[in-house]
Amino acid sequence: MAALQYSQIVTFFLLFCFFISVSHGRVPPAGADFRVKAVNLGGWLVTEGWIKPSLFDGIPNNDFLDGTGLQFKSVAVGKYLAAETGGGTIVVANRTSASGWETFKLWRINETTFNFRVFNKQFVGLDKAGNGINIVAVASTPGIWETFQIVRKSDDVNRVRIRASNGFFLQVKTEELVTADFQGNGTWADDDPSVFLITSAGGYQGEFQVTNGYGPVKAPLVMGEHWRTFIVEDDFKFVAGNGLNAVRIPVGWWIASGPNPPKPFVAGALRALDNAFFWARKYGLKVIIDLHAAPGSQNPWEHSGTRDGSQEWGLTEDSINQTVAVIDFLTARYAKSPSLLAVELLNEPLSPGVSLDTLSKYYKAGYDAVRRHSSTAYVILSNRLGPADSTELIPLASGLTRSVIDVHYYNLFSDVYSNLTVQQNIDIIQTNRTAQLARITSANGPLVFVGEWVAEWEVSGATKEDYQRFAAAQLEVYGRATFGWAYWTLKNVVNHWSLEWMIKNGYIKL
Ligand SMILES: *[C@@H]1O[C@H](CO)[C@@H](O)[C@H](O)[C@H]1NC(C)=O
Ligand SMILES: *[C@@H]1O[C@H](CO)[C@@H](O)[C@H](O)[C@H]1NC(C)=O
Ligand SMILES: *[C@@H]1O[C@H](CO)[C@@H](O)[C@H](O)[C@H]1NC(C)=O
Ligand SMILES: *[C@@H]1O[C@H](CO)[C@@H](O)[C@H](O)[C@H]1NC(C)=O
Ligand SMILES: *[C@@H]1O[C@H](CO)[C@@H](O)[C@H](O)[C@H]1NC(C)=O
Ligand SMILES: *[C@@H]1O[C@H](CO)[C@@H](O)[C@H](O)[C@H]1NC(C)=O
Repeated sequence: MAALQYSQIVTFFLLFCFFISVSHGRVPPAGADFRVKAVNLGGWLVTEGWIKPSLFDGIPNNDFLDGTGLQFKSVAVGKYLAAETGGGTIVVANRTSASGWETFKLWRINETTFNFRVFNKQFVGLDKAGNGINIVAVASTPGIWETFQIVRKSDDVNRVRIRASNGFFLQVKTEELVTADFQGNGTWADDDPSVFLITSAGGYQGEFQVTNGYGPVKAPLVMGEHWRTFIVEDDFKFVAGNGLNAVRIPVGWWIASGPNPPKPFVAGALRALDNAFFWARKYGLKVIIDLHAAPGSQNPWEHSGTRDGSQEWGLTEDSINQTVAVIDFLTARYAKSPSLLAVELLNEPLSPGVSLDTLSKYYKAGYDAVRRHSSTAYVILSNRLGPADSTELIPLASGLTRSVIDVHYYNLFSDVYSNLTVQQNIDIIQTNRTAQLARITSANGPLVFVGEWVAEWEVSGATKEDYQRFAAAQLEVYGRATFGWAYWTLKNVVNHWSLEWMIKNGYIKL
């Protein structure tokens, strides 16, 4: 074994000293002049289909992804299937219109094979406690009895038949009796009791859907390609060269699972995050790690990695502990990087599904996990969405060093913004947002971060100048947030949601 040269040892020592000095010297002091001017790297390490729809193009039957709600109208009786009382008993075919109890959410086994989850969360299946052929919705977990194949008519994909695991097709015998005992191929005609017309009540295009949609062989290849190409070194150069000083990077809990994350998630995002830290350092940018998707999902939206819209994070202590372990893992990995600015413990927990009590316990444990590895990283606590007081985290955060409250401001997603003029939207920024920020800002309390905003609204036919004024108003107001802000997002096929596009086309200047 060759011994190290003296000069090499000296070099190592000097590098070591440099590393120590940068890792302890560059994180800006709380409440000082430094303000985060960041952009989110949305749709990169946590999939959101609307940001990059082409990611889903190669999935067979990509309108049958996990969580998609299907409604089945029997052509023979002209009525919809329903889980009677929303689930827990029989499945009937006596509804003239379709809504919650008539919507069956897919759990995808593969491109043709599914479980159907009903309103009360049971799964449709054969009545195994009875004659084995009547259709019921009673199982709390799906097994072979709850597994069905959807067969589409070759020249009309919305005409389907459903084959049960006993090999027979479902048929509507009467409006109150649906059975799996239809033999033969049927005619696909309008009097065929095994034929249903489907309508979709919508679905999800998140990480669960894309990985399960491609399946275990293709998903690692498709995701690997996406992670390598969607955000590249040049993007960090662009961000640094256009007046921004940080990136907020949404990640999912599976990133901490090593080479074999729980199915259907696939490994590889961690390497992309390593690259992000490398490029951030090279271009002098800070990184905010944002846990965007927690085990069980902390909200019902696709960006929390949900399978079917169920929000189950925090219902068990185990899901909280698992999440703390993810924070521990990520902070340990990047604590020594001079680029690590902050760790955001959980994005957009939704009230009332996530209670303040549960969230506070988690935030305290998550904060401790960060502090085990870093005394300087800021710890960001996202306010709850839904019915929640925007000041509710201040008592907790005030007792924590270098803590930050994250709020997201969109003039969207509520009827309140539907019919406003350009000027009314701008007034909301200057008046309401200013007041909202003031409510959560205090001299000795946590810093405040507008971690997501966008220059998009419900105004139709707005001019470029209108957008420029709207963006400028937000930059001005959010520029006063004591921690700073982050635009949602850097890249998006929808132009105004792409900060890259907004900068390149002169809508936003920093
Ligand atoms: C559908 O059938 C079930 C079971 O007999 C019955 O309880 C329910 O009232 C019926 N609903 C309608 C709308 O006819
Ligand atoms: C889908 O899964 C079912 C049940 O495991 C299996 O019988 C079928 O061959 C699979 N189909 C495809 C296309 O993989
Ligand atoms: C039934 O389906 C099988 C397999 O697809 C096919 O070979 C057969 O011709 C069909 N029979 C009728 C009567 O359509
Ligand atoms: C969760 O973590 C806490 C603190 O480490 C521990 O006391 C508790 O037993 C854990 N609970 C579970 C379900 O693992
Ligand atoms: C917005 O305007 C449309 C068309 O005038 C109207 O139908 C709708 O109810 C309005 N929405 C709200 C929230 O006021
Ligand atoms: C903005 O503030 C005004 C005045 O307090 C209030 O009337 C209005 O409802 C608020 N609008 C929004 C969207 O919060």
